[in-house]
Amino acid sequence: MKPLIIANWKCHPTTLIEAKGLFNSVKKGIKDLKNVEIVICPPFVFLPFLKSKIGSQDCFWGESGAFTGEISPKMLKNLGCEYVIIGHSERRRYQKETDEIINKKLKAAISSGLKPILCIESLAQLKKGLKGIAKKVIIAYEPVFAIGTGKPCSPEKARKMRKAIKYPVVLYGGSVNSQNAVNYIKEAGFQGLLVGGASLNPKEFIALAKNIDFISKKR
Ligand code: PGA
Repeated sequence: MKPLIIANWKCHPTTLIEAKGLFNSVKKGIKDLKNVEIVICPPFVFLPFLKSKIGSQDCFWGESGAFTGEISPKMLKNLGCEYVIIGHSERRRYQKETDEIINKKLKAAISSGLKPILCIESLAQLKKGLKGIAKKVIIAYEPVFAIGTGKPCSPEKARKMRKAIKYPVVLYGGSVNSQNAVNYIKEAGFQGLLVGGASLNPKEFIALAKNIDFISKKR
C-alpha cells in the first residue's frame, strides 16, 4: 500500500476563505504525487466545501436521533467523507471521551462504511478501543508528550511500539514535520503519518508529502 498521510487541521482555520485557500494550495502542490495517499481532515463545517479526499476529526456513535449538536458517521459518509479520526488524545482530554465511547464510535463508523483511524498512546487503549471489533482498523500511535510540542518521539522508541501493535496499518503522529517524516516510515516501520501543526502550513506539508512520495517510489 501507499503510505497514508492524514492532515489533522484540528480547530483551524476560522474562516471558509482561509480553509479553501489552504486546501487549494495543498491540492495544487500534491497533484502529481502518485506514491502517497493524502487525506485532509478539516473542521466539520468546512467539509462540504472541500472537494477531494477528505476525512472527519470525529463522529458521533449514533446514526440519527435526538442528540443535539452531534454529527453522525452516516452524515459524514453521505457527504463524501472516506475516513474519520476517532479517539484523538485531545478529545479524550477535553471532551472526556472514554475507551467505551470511543469503542461505540468506532463501531458506528465501521457500520456506516467510513474508514476509522483509532488514535492511541498505549496498548491498553488499543485493546479497550477495539473490544468486540474484528475488523482491522487503521491505528495511529500518538504519544501525548509529542503532540503539538515540537518534541517528536524518537524513531527507535516509535519502532518498538510499532512492533507491539500487531495491526497491518499503523500511523505515527506527534510533531511530524518535513524533516523527520521519512524516519517514521523508513526506520520505524509505520505505514503512514498523522500530521497536525505541519498540515496548516502548505509549504511545509507539501514538502513533507513530497519526501514521503520520494521514498515510497524507490521501494
Ligand atoms: P502535531 O499533532 O503534528 O501538531 O503534533 C498531531 C496530532 O495531534 O494528530
